[in-house]
Parts: sequence; C-alpha cells; structure tokens
Amino acid sequence: MNLGELILPEVEPQMHLTVMRSEIVEGLSPQPGGVYVDCTAGGGGHSEALLEAGPLSRVVAFDRDVEAVARVRERLTPFGERATVVHADFEGIEAWLAQAGIAQVDGLVADLGISSFQLDDGERGMSFRFSGPLDMRMDQTRGPTAQELIASHSADELANIIYRLGEERRSRRVARCIKQAEEAGELCTTADLRRAVVRAVGPRRLGGVDPATKTFQALRIAVNDELGQLTSLVAMSARILKPGAVAAFISFHSLEDRIVKRAFVGDEWERLTKKPMLPTEAERAENPRSRTAKLRLGRRSAAEEADASEGDDD
Ligand SMILES: C[S@@+](CC[C@H](N)C(=O)[O-])C[C@H]1O[C@@H](n2cnc3c(N)ncnc32)[C@H](O)[C@@H]1O
Repeated sequence: MNLGELILPEVEPQMHLTVMRSEIVEGLSPQPGGVYVDCTAGGGGHSEALLEAGPLSRVVAFDRDVEAVARVRERLTPFGERATVVHADFEGIEAWLAQAGIAQVDGLVADLGISSFQLDDGERGMSFRFSGPLDMRMDQTRGPTAQELIASHSADELANIIYRLGEERRSRRVARCIKQAEEAGELCTTADLRRAVVRAVGPRRLGGVDPATKTFQALRIAVNDELGQLTSLVAMSARILKPGAVAAFISFHSLEDRIVKRAFVGDEWERLTKKPMLPTEAERAENPRSRTAKLRLGRRSAAEEADASEGDDD
C-alpha cells in the first residue's frame, strides 16, 4: 500500500456560497405580508435573498445546527422583526409554527445537506479532508455521533448502511475493516476512518475521487437520519403551505432527489419543474459545490379551496 495515500490531503476551506439564490427568489416570489419558511438556514443566504426581494414580507428560518442559528441570527439582524431564526430540525417546524400562531405559510425553501461551514470545520468530523473527531452530527446537542453509530452496529448492519446510503459496492469489506479498526482501538478520528476504508478498497486512483467519499456520505446521512427527516419535511410541506404557495427543494444526490421528485406527485401539488432546474454554467464554475444541485419546485394546488367553495353553494 502506498503510505502517501493514508495522509490526508491538504485542502483550503471554501467560503459558503448560496446555491441557486436568484432561482429561489424567482420561484417563491415573496409578496407583501407573506410569511416564508427557510428550512435550512445554513449561512442565511436564501433567507437574506427573500427578505431583500420582498421588503414587506417575513422569513422564519430553521436549522438544527446551533452554530448556524447563531450565525444566521447575526446576519439577519438588519431585518429586525421580519426575520426569526429558530433551532429546530424539520420534524420540529410544524409544531413551532403552530405555537407561534402561524397556521400556514406562503412559501418554503429547503437547501438540503450540509454547509461548507460544517464540511470545512475539522472538529465537526464531516470530511475526510480534515482530521477531527468521528462526530458528523449537524445537531451537536443530541443524537449518536458517527463513532457511537459504528459501535452500536454489527459489521453486517454497517455494510447495509454503507451500501444503501453510500452506494459503495465493496460495503462488506469496508464495514469489516472499520469494525476491525474499532476493535483494535484504532478508530477515533476521521483520519482513522479514512485509513480503514483505504485498507478495504485500496488507494485513490489518479484523478479519481477519494476512496472514502461514499463511506463518509453514508455514515453522515445515517447519523443525521437525513432521508427520514426529508420524508417528514415533504409530507409536512403539503400541510403548512397555503393553497397556491410554492415549495422549493434543492437536493445534492440521487437518494434525496428521488424523495423530492415523488413529493410533487398527486392532487395536492402542481409540479412546476418537470425536469429539475440546474445551476447556470457561471454558477457551477464559481461554486463547485453547486455542481450536483437539482432544484424542484411545486405549487400547493388550490383544488381543496375550490372544492370547499363549491360545497358552500349547496
Ligand atoms: C446547504 S446548507 C443551507 C445553506 C443556506 N441555504 C444558505 O444559503 O446559506 C444546509 C443547512 O441545513 C441544515 N439542515 C440540514 N438538515 C436539516 C434538518 N433536518 N433540520 C434542520 N436543519 C437542517 C444544516 O445544518 C445546514 O446548516
């Protein structure tokens, strides 16, 4: 084995750039008096864009990451009471709105996955590019870390996670090597995890992606129950949006996009994007993170309202 492959590559952290900012503003088109929900506050870029575009509207932004909440609160301070930033995950949004007396909202955006702030902070343990603890939680106030998740699963269970959520063909070998490292007391950091994966699948091919990419993705998705959270969000969207209001979902991999695509099927929705919208060439060149982004828009259908008013005439 080439020992050089076991050393983490040096990478410069990147700034977080908001993906498809103008497409989100155009899609939601904030109106005076409207209330808009940003389900993934992150760095605050989409919230800020909506508040700027609709000077008489209001945004409630949610994030499960306490650091993101603090950052976005500061960024949105100039908008005063028009901006509210809340620490909650997708499953907490509906209850928060109900408690605040907001029955339904005028639009919703979810820019899924993690931010560059999270990815590039070694202490969060999300990336094999920086050495740090095996954490990977977006919400560091609760839930198992990646290390705890690995410890509480057998090699077979771990292999299933890595296969399903990382689409890693060699998941059995990878899981075996991870458990071996754990049993030897050699699995505490992201560098240890990457080392175990390289032991299983071999070093990076020239010009290829890092061999640990799929395993890190799978464990991060599992630690944060990202697909379960998204499924809840999609179901909730139909309940919290007013008839005629638009939901915008930006996804970054096929597992997410599959859930979003199915969301807009059925009478409750009018699909506004038959095919997903992609970032422009210019955005893809400026922001490499945007390259895999897919935006889908759906409008909450007004059918129920029409039905209700027909009923009123009787
Ligand atoms: C891609 S970033 C959003 C960036 C943001 N749109 C911007 O313009 O700066 C995704 C953010 O969503 C948050 N997030 C992801 N899943 C979440 C969930 N289930 N509940 C709440 N926040 C979530 C992450 O913590 C992260 O801060």
